Amino acid sequence: MARIFSGIQPSGELHIGNYLGAVKNWVRLQHEHPGATFCVVDYHAITGRYDPQVLRARRWGMAASLLAAGIDPARVTLFMQSDVPEHTELSWIFTTFTPLGELERQVQFKDKAAREESIPAGLLMYPVLQAADILLYRADAVPVGEDQVQHLELARDTARRFNAKFAVAYFPEPQPMLSPTRRILGLDGQAKMSKSLGNTVGLLEADDAIWGKLRPAVTDPQRVRKSDPGRPEVCNVYQLHRAFSAPAVVAEVEANCRSAGWGCMDCKKALHGAMVAELTPIRARAAELQAAPGRVLEVLEDGAARARAVARQTMREVREIVGLDPLTVSAAALPAEGAPPAAG
Ligand code: TYM
Repeated sequence: MARIFSGIQPSGELHIGNYLGAVKNWVRLQHEHPGATFCVVDYHAITGRYDPQVLRARRWGMAASLLAAGIDPARVTLFMQSDVPEHTELSWIFTTFTPLGELERQVQFKDKAAREESIPAGLLMYPVLQAADILLYRADAVPVGEDQVQHLELARDTARRFNAKFAVAYFPEPQPMLSPTRRILGLDGQAKMSKSLGNTVGLLEADDAIWGKLRPAVTDPQRVRKSDPGRPEVCNVYQLHRAFSAPAVVAEVEANCRSAGWGCMDCKKALHGAMVAELTPIRARAAELQAAPGRVLEVLEDGAARARAVARQTMREVREIVGLDPLTVSAAALPAEGAPPAAG
């Protein structure tokens, strides 16, 4: 059975982009893959400019939102990355053989670095830490959105390089698991939905706030009048229907769009209804968790203990492979002073 790991940054609220691209898939997968590991990657969140006070609230908020979205700690491990320092230790080992040029070619690095006057080294090393996150649990399947595919390629290269350098078959080569909603656009229909672009719809937003964003959302640009037939395949609102509405509704939306039976506003109202139906129980669970922060803490403490047990075992083995085993063990293997090293 596949060993599953994935992570999410606490860089803001859970929005329908990272929910549909990743988290909804995690919730689905936890039934087929009990034992999967999911992580709030707070070490990653400090590679850009940030306010510690805001980060504190967001780490907490992300963990609570994941639980509200349906992550079940009885089935999977949910933990905070910085509770398991082995992530940074393995990352350091990986940096010692990762070619700089490969890191400089990462699209996300180039995008982010272009916005910085002085580029922090951590921004460059970001995908190495991501490779360490995954390989620490020796995961071979990583449910993510499309924007993480290049980072996963680097994780596979890292596994391959480690195995080749030390002549072992230790790390698996992790593959992305993409959901049908692998790339959710913002409601401007232009760019990826992303907190940094300010085009998100939050999972916990009130119904009328969601409608306020949905009403002006861009649809098929060629559909100017209500009587113009639409093209669902180029319409972002239709893509969201495919994510939120039942298959029969999606078929109805498609037929009514092509025949101009419905105007875009009719379609948006139906989408709003479907979103509210899915998000209302999530919002209710989030409110319950906000009122019981001890419950979130308990989940994270238990998750960290479970994650740490796996991480420690991996690091024991990795240290041995790379020649950093405990001194008491390696002393016994030392040749006597002056003696030639043992052959073999
Ligand atoms: P992050 O925090 O940006 O996003 C979390 C997950 O949500 C997906 N996602 C989207 N999918 C579709 N459409 C969108 N608009 C959208 N926005 C976000 C992302 O693809 C991701 O799966 N580097 C990672 C975090 C990370 C990680 C890891 C992931 C660190 N270590 C190990 C997997 C495994 C990131 O910034 O994701």
